[in-house]
Amino acid sequence: MDAAMKPNGPAKVAKDEDAIAMLTADHKKVKSLFGDFKKLMDQEGADDQKVALVKQICDALKVHAEIEEEIFYPAVRKAINDADLMDEALVEHAAAKDLIAQLEEMEPGDDLYDAKVTVLGEQIDHHVKEEEGNMFVKAKSAKVDGAALGAKMAQRQAELRSESEGEGKAPTKSSAHKTSSASG
Ligand SMILES: [Fe+2]
Repeated sequence: MDAAMKPNGPAKVAKDEDAIAMLTADHKKVKSLFGDFKKLMDQEGADDQKVALVKQICDALKVHAEIEEEIFYPAVRKAINDADLMDEALVEHAAAKDLIAQLEEMEPGDDLYDAKVTVLGEQIDHHVKEEEGNMFVKAKSAKVDGAALGAKMAQRQAELRSESEGEGKAPTKSSAHKTSSASG
């Protein structure tokens, strides 16, 4: 049993969290959610769990992309003088958002559902490597003010999370109440 360590504590707004540490923690969390999804792919009857997990993944990624685009990227763009790198990150976000939007309209039984989650995970993996291996390194050496940015980002993150929780409160009966239209 691995009850000793629970790394995913509640999402607290740390007062003086560093921006890069915050984004890196997001990456780690989302990576582990994709890992959880992979396990569900081998299980029968895991549709409800998939729905919940994919919602968690999509919500987390949307908030993450938003705080990067609104706050982190503009500051880094000014500091590091590598417009190509920053542009590529935006294009990667756009591609991820497109897959997220598709997944939000889908259900686990749909064609390509698992594949889309898997590909989204692969895109995010790539994105994480670019950020952690390149952009964050450059931001650090350009002395981007991680504490000031982190404070802004934490505040915005909390706002966005409470917005998406509000949306999630609406009861759905999609899985309990399936209307199967007989084909043929
Ligand atoms: Fe990121």
